[in-house]
Amino acid sequence: MTDAALALPRLIAHRGLSARAPENTLAAVRAAHAVGVTWVELDVQLLGDGTPVIWHDAGLRRCSDRRGRLADLDLAAARRLDAGGWFGEAFRGEPMATLADMLALLDELDMGVNLELKVNRGRDPRALVEAAVPAVIAAVPSSRRLLSSFNDAALAHARVLAGPETLSLGVLVEGVGRDWRRRCEAVAACSVHADWKRLKADRAWEVSEAGYRLLCYTANDPIAFAPRWEWGVEAVISDDPTRFMP
Ligand code: G3P
Ligand code: MG
Repeated sequence: MTDAALALPRLIAHRGLSARAPENTLAAVRAAHAVGVTWVELDVQLLGDGTPVIWHDAGLRRCSDRRGRLADLDLAAARRLDAGGWFGEAFRGEPMATLADMLALLDELDMGVNLELKVNRGRDPRALVEAAVPAVIAAVPSSRRLLSSFNDAALAHARVLAGPETLSLGVLVEGVGRDWRRRCEAVAACSVHADWKRLKADRAWEVSEAGYRLLCYTANDPIAFAPRWEWGVEAVISDDPTRFMP
């Protein structure tokens, strides 16, 4: 249910400022900070050796100079990978960020984070949660951290692992289905994160009137998005939040 202490902003940069810098990198978070965005959404997964890293895909190809699977990489190999050149020459040599690297940067910049526990096919949600969640709790004040996932087992394990610690959890959905409240209650989530294109006004109202925070991903057109602010949506996760700025 609603976590009053959570200082959620209206604008969150999706995978960092991914319209202008390589997604999920330190550079993308610095870019978000540079334009005045205070929170970023980032994806976390594990390397093969158990190191949590900030990465979206199961594979390496789309966002690096390597091929293969993230799960087959260890930290030494990850450190040699170029996660920026694919986006543009100015970013060549940008490393894959470990979660530890990223948490240090968020602290330096005083930024908040919606960390998505990304459980790609065949990966173990519990191992991810055990590696990532205590680190986030230790590094980020509770008002500035929101952990979300499409994977209910990951959220449930995060809730158990956090124990009495304040931990804001969000349920990721595509459309808001009939089961949204059951999923939230099962893990004591405070928020629902919905695909903005699939969000319907009646379900949006149901969520916000029940006292849950409602966030939308990944919206980049403020005009098309606009009616949703009236439906109780509190925050938009955008590749380029500057488009939503006055
Ligand atoms: O957390 C919102 C959004 O990032 C979920 O989808 O695929 O961009 O991680 P995806
Ligand atoms: Mg994500």
